[in-house]
Amino acid sequence: AADQITVSIDAGAAGPTIDRHLFGQFAEHLGHGIYGGVWVGRDSPIPNTRGIRNDVVAALKAIKVPNVRWPGGCFADEYHWRNGIGPAAQRRAGRNPNWGGVVEPNTFGTDEFMDFVGQLGAEAYISANVGSGTRQEAAEWLEYLTAEQTALGDERAANGHAAPYKVAFWGIGNESWGCGGAMSAEHYLEELKAYSRFSRNYNPAQQMRQIAVGPDGAKTEYTETIMRAWASKTWSWNIDGLSLHSYTLNGWPPSVKATGFGEEEYARFIKETLGMDALIRKHGAIMDRYDPQKKVALVVDEWGSWLAPTPGTDPGFLMQQNSQRDAMVAALNLNIFARHAARVRMANIAQMINVLQAMILTDQEKMVLTPTYHVFKMYVPFHDATLLPATFKAGTYRHGQYAMPRVDAMAARGTDGKLWVALANIDFKRPVELALAVAGKTVSTASGQVLSSPHADSVNTFAAPDTVKPAALDVKLVNGKPVLMLAPRSIAVLALE
Ligand code: AHR
Repeated sequence: AADQITVSIDAGAAGPTIDRHLFGQFAEHLGHGIYGGVWVGRDSPIPNTRGIRNDVVAALKAIKVPNVRWPGGCFADEYHWRNGIGPAAQRRAGRNPNWGGVVEPNTFGTDEFMDFVGQLGAEAYISANVGSGTRQEAAEWLEYLTAEQTALGDERAANGHAAPYKVAFWGIGNESWGCGGAMSAEHYLEELKAYSRFSRNYNPAQQMRQIAVGPDGAKTEYTETIMRAWASKTWSWNIDGLSLHSYTLNGWPPSVKATGFGEEEYARFIKETLGMDALIRKHGAIMDRYDPQKKVALVVDEWGSWLAPTPGTDPGFLMQQNSQRDAMVAALNLNIFARHAARVRMANIAQMINVLQAMILTDQEKMVLTPTYHVFKMYVPFHDATLLPATFKAGTYRHGQYAMPRVDAMAARGTDGKLWVALANIDFKRPVELALAVAGKTVSTASGQVLSSPHADSVNTFAAPDTVKPAALDVKLVNGKPVLMLAPRSIAVLALE
């Protein structure tokens, strides 16, 4: 057909692994991200296991959350872990100055977080307090988490967990160029070296990976300074990852409406989202100069849509609805991360529940899954899959001053041996016919799911939870080639066998 776009996939090629940690989550003490979203307390009428919501855990298990970053965010650089351990009556309440100044009861602390990730079957990614804490405080936190036969290990046991916890990822500060202390790159580097040196995991078998604060969006000072130092470092410190934070915002302060928008706002937002590719290339090129073997991962541990807060909510709680446009933002970013899988080996969408581009929204006992959640579910087969080359002439989607590819595609060989393909029709109005030409494999069956919606700003609500949800994809084999129509602003994931 004249308007058909062919995606050519080389099923025999060997590419990098799409690390499952690209599908990581971020849960900060912010608004109802933790309190209400994860933690309701043991005495709550909302069904829970040791205070943690059962409905939320079940939903998150279904998307196989690989890791959760906690406790922040900006919150992390003012978090003092000792306030959040021990008997509930002894927890010290404080304030959360970054996010609405509300009372932080500290009823959800280290042991509750480790229980939560344990219930999910996810790894813990803990961010240490560099901004207002000390090296000793951070070192002691790790001792509490991982040591045995020490005073702090005994304290953990007395608090109900005799066995050491596994800390897979250890973040050394958060946004140290901003809310984490507004440090110059040189100053942060000195902090990093000392924190890295003295952050001891007492269970070396855990092979904990340390992640440094890296660039603020397109700014390169942190990338240059830290990677230059890493390339000539001594034995006494190391990092395994460099963090990048980049949101889709369309300007600061965030004012793009979550619903009630038209094509202009759609096109502008998606155009900015696609800029993630250039951003990764920019920082990746610097990292390649100092680390051609790609030993240090670029960790995009805050990304996603940052929109105007839901009217009537506390602006400090960063609550926003989540539409089909957000689903597009999620799929396009995940495709970009996957294509850069050799360098980008971890990412954390901000944030998991009730905050920014969430998977789940809750209100008391009610829970709803967002369009973004459905993207993460559809992408589960890409966890630890092998990236395959996918080439296509994308065409152009144009609206006013905004021009961008009309379609996007990403392919991989799953750990199940199947060939998996993700497709996105970026165009606001035009459906597109897509054909898949697969080299190195005979395709005898093709099936999949599609996520589309009546409108670009369609959302799921407590009253109408299934407005945006995956449906079976109509795909035909034509002369051995899978062929399908993809609706405007929609995403499909197919298995080819
Ligand atoms: O995700 C919200 C905030 O955005 C985080 O706390 C901070 O790290 C970033 O600026």
